[in-house]
Amino acid sequence: MKNATHTLKGKASDVLPGPPKKPFFGNFLQLRTARKEFRFHHVLEKWAGEYGDVYQIGIFGKDYFIISDYEVAREILSRRPGDIRRRIVMEDAADEMGLNGLFTSDGKRWKTQRHLTIKALSSNYLEAFLPTLLRVTNRLVDKWDDMASTDKLIDVVDETKAYSADLMSNMVFGFDMNTLGLENKEEIIKNHFNRIFPQFYKRINSPFFSYWKYFKMPVDHKLHTSLKAIKKIFYEVTDQTRERFKEDPDDALHPKSMVEAMVLAKDEHDQPYSNEEIFANVFSVLLAGEDAVGNTIGWTLNFISDHPEVQKKIQEEVDEKLADGVAFEEYDFDYWNKNFKYIEAVLTESMRIKPIAPLASMQASRDVEINGVNYDKHATFLLLPKVFFNKEKHFFQADKFIPERWLIDKENKKDVSGCPFHQEGVHNEKAYMPFGHGPRYCAGSKLAMFEMKVLFAIICKKYEVNKKKPVKEVKEKLTLLMEPSNCFIELSSRN
Ligand code: HEM
Repeated sequence: MKNATHTLKGKASDVLPGPPKKPFFGNFLQLRTARKEFRFHHVLEKWAGEYGDVYQIGIFGKDYFIISDYEVAREILSRRPGDIRRRIVMEDAADEMGLNGLFTSDGKRWKTQRHLTIKALSSNYLEAFLPTLLRVTNRLVDKWDDMASTDKLIDVVDETKAYSADLMSNMVFGFDMNTLGLENKEEIIKNHFNRIFPQFYKRINSPFFSYWKYFKMPVDHKLHTSLKAIKKIFYEVTDQTRERFKEDPDDALHPKSMVEAMVLAKDEHDQPYSNEEIFANVFSVLLAGEDAVGNTIGWTLNFISDHPEVQKKIQEEVDEKLADGVAFEEYDFDYWNKNFKYIEAVLTESMRIKPIAPLASMQASRDVEINGVNYDKHATFLLLPKVFFNKEKHFFQADKFIPERWLIDKENKKDVSGCPFHQEGVHNEKAYMPFGHGPRYCAGSKLAMFEMKVLFAIICKKYEVNKKKPVKEVKEKLTLLMEPSNCFIELSSRN
């Protein structure tokens, strides 16, 4: 039975509807295949259609509350920290590894970390980051020029993830990982992170008890070795940065990397942050930002290759704003920042239809009441933002890729009466939150939008993006985030 969520009152596990649970397994068997195929969220989304915007499932005796009502989702996200938090298993896993930074921490610790990361990602820094962004993007373009001239297919996920990793590491550390040899510490840091991330994901998703607390398998020993080695190098780099700033205070006026900005930041007692805190937050930024940017670029490439009419409009915009024969480096930060409104709308629409986080899990830190329904301490909520981003009742022609819906909003704010997107309830921006909501809103949203905008301006100035015919079906693959699997594009040079 589909619920009328707003009229339900009482204890969540008693009053909320949901698919029938089997003894012992609960709904595990219905979800098992989808989970193996990285489409766990599809089953939950389908059930939202059957059981309503707020329903429950059970897995091995534990209840989960599935939310696709945007108002309930906003309330859950707003009541952090305090009543609600990210899953504690994340903080435990990060803590054990000495990596408990902004993304994973909670309570007082989170507040301190938030202050640090927000300072390091301030707009001053965004401006200083532009040369790095252009350098890394030019390198991508050199590679894609070769691929375009040989009609080579581009595997979107591989390319966009590599680009984003390159970009993020340059931004965070301020050195160029790609151009350095294996013997360099930068390369070693990269290799260690490549070992640490998968182990972190494994631990937070482990269906078994935390065995590694009691005995270590070879993989856990390797992880331990990597953590020790990476911290040693990282602390050396941080100490050298502190020394350099002491010797040359002028150098400290313009931090060129996030690590430098964090070294300069002061906490609420006007004290510098420790190497441990800086390291944990670097991990958090890479954890939260790297694949988020890579996957959003991937989905957007997929959309523009499917929509030549949208690509044509982007081309008109970039041809107007970026003159032929003028190097991209000639345009300053303000120019990039203020222009390219159509590309911004394309990115916004792409994140509406294919948000990279279609499933977000939260946990109650104490007993909470939401909309008349009572949830016990430790209750787990699984939020499904993709469902409400794509509802016809919130967005006119919700299943269509129409970037213009975001332009009309900004430009016609005063008079939207004749606009089909703005008839009552059909352009509900409150039901759209690709960067989250409330106090834990994405710390890197401005940076992400800026770098993606610059990238798409450059790509669309240089190339036409097409799909190889016959086109294979592009599928959603949800690991920690959602990526476009099976997505291949072809580039042809525009000049
Ligand atoms: C298109 C790219 C991105 C998307 C769609 C995205 C989305 C998100 C979302 C949905 C959250 C959770 C917010 C919440 O719980 O309410 C988040 C958190 C976060 N993001 Fe992003 N993000 C992106 C890029 C980045 C980048 C580039 C960085 C860093 C440079 C970053 C750093 C963070 C951090 C540190 C948090 C945790 C904030 C906190 O818990 O206080 N993100 N992001």
